[in-house]
Amino acid sequence: QILILDFGSQYTQLIARRVRELNVYCEIHPFNKVPALTPDIKGVILSGSPCSVRQENAPTVDLSLFRGKVPVLGVCYGAQLMAQQLGGSVTPSKIREYGRAKLSTVDHHNDLLKEISLDSQVWMSHGDTIEAVPDNFELIASTSSVRVAAFQIKNEKTFGIQFHPEVTHSTEGKNLLRNFVVHICNSAQDWTPDQFIETTITDLKQKLGNDQVVMALSGGVDSTVAAILVHKAIGKNLHCIFVDNGLLRKDEFTQVLESYKGMGLNIKGVDAKDKFYTALNGLTEPESKRKAIGKTFIDVFDEESHQIKDVKWLGQGTIYPDVIESAPVMGPSQTIKSHHNVGGLPEKMKLKIVEPLNTLFKDEVRLVGKTLGIDPTILGRHPFPGPGLGIRILGDINAEKVSVLQEVDAIFIGGLRKHGLYDKVWQAGAMLLPIQSVGVMGDERTYERVVALRAVSSIDGMTADWVHLPYEFLAEISNEIINKVKGVNRVVYDISSKPPATIEWE
Ligand code: XMP
Repeated sequence: QILILDFGSQYTQLIARRVRELNVYCEIHPFNKVPALTPDIKGVILSGSPCSVRQENAPTVDLSLFRGKVPVLGVCYGAQLMAQQLGGSVTPSKIREYGRAKLSTVDHHNDLLKEISLDSQVWMSHGDTIEAVPDNFELIASTSSVRVAAFQIKNEKTFGIQFHPEVTHSTEGKNLLRNFVVHICNSAQDWTPDQFIETTITDLKQKLGNDQVVMALSGGVDSTVAAILVHKAIGKNLHCIFVDNGLLRKDEFTQVLESYKGMGLNIKGVDAKDKFYTALNGLTEPESKRKAIGKTFIDVFDEESHQIKDVKWLGQGTIYPDVIESAPVMGPSQTIKSHHNVGGLPEKMKLKIVEPLNTLFKDEVRLVGKTLGIDPTILGRHPFPGPGLGIRILGDINAEKVSVLQEVDAIFIGGLRKHGLYDKVWQAGAMLLPIQSVGVMGDERTYERVVALRAVSSIDGMTADWVHLPYEFLAEISNEIINKVKGVNRVVYDISSKPPATIEWE
């Protein structure tokens, strides 16, 4: 595997994803918690950082832990750190070095730069520049404004690059990473969905033996793929529970339940709508609603799993981005929304946890799911928040409002599918606003509800942009909603990006 040391760059996870795309396994660890070098670690990549190597208390690492023992590649900050620590100098850039640049000299004999063309476009994003390098550094690439765009330490497999090969704007970045990871580090390219499935099932069999496992399914990609893997390992000893919290999409409960049964899962559907509505009664504040939904879920799940004899394990669909410990360079981040899922369950139930997907990125989960033969409509599903429509009905919630929003949402999502737009959107949904507006239908004045439609593009939900859906489409959907859904007389489209807005309205 490749070890990626994180200095807090926004691109660190991208490095890992690019390495994984080469079918090479890698892990991200914070710069201040370097794991001991074991024979399976074939190389180390030092990430970029929002910090400057010149600032006081800049994040740093003892290079001797791995330098000279395995190949090392420093990217941006990582390269500057090496240059500075080993006797070179790093100074503030005189000109802005942000965005696209072209390599103007390239040493094609260098192993790192084999088959990287002269004029290759690279992505720069740095405020400091490497001014001088020690004598034992060899310059292997430059751009017109950055002399030290890439270097190698002589007689060592230690490299530094100022640009970001992990960003797709570096058009040959993937080749450079391949040169490093595959040819210089000699990593095995055996990280494939088939291989992952085989070893995971073997490991699960060994870990779980004849034990009983319980899992909450949500209809989403992660919990489904996790459940199928556990099911393949232990069959009927996996007990799945799918809770109707009364906040799901229209007909979702029955449809999802049916498709799970079709996959052979041992699944129980639990109708707990009234429990959730009772817990939510009178609550208007988003975080209180999230807490009430989370707590009710735990109660329902706890009660259900107590009916399973001798259950020892709780299966979860946790994925790698949820477990990566981020490097402590940006200070503690503020909680903007508490994203509940099944958090809090393990402590209460005293169960051991099994998380078969905790090394995978989302796109890898989809690939594994595809290889397992899971229905593409489940794999291609938009993300849907745990508290469901509960955080899309602004203000207090009741069964009648849920049913109005379900109708609106079904028209919107159905329309996206019908017009071939569903897969072009990362997430979409409708919000029921806590206001009424005046309208006119026939000769009558109406005073009814307003709904907002939202469709965003995103990579991981951390940032998002609103999607420029065709006007004709919006016109058709708006018409259909106002004509068909009783009690709604106005439709608006949300044109805010995240940040500063968020995807959900609550
Ligand atoms: P925001 O609104 O924070 O949403 O921009 C980012 C992503 O997270 C989802 N989301 C949630 N998911 N529980 C969840 O499981 C929650 O409480 C929650 N709140 C937001 C949201 O749908 C989007 O995909």
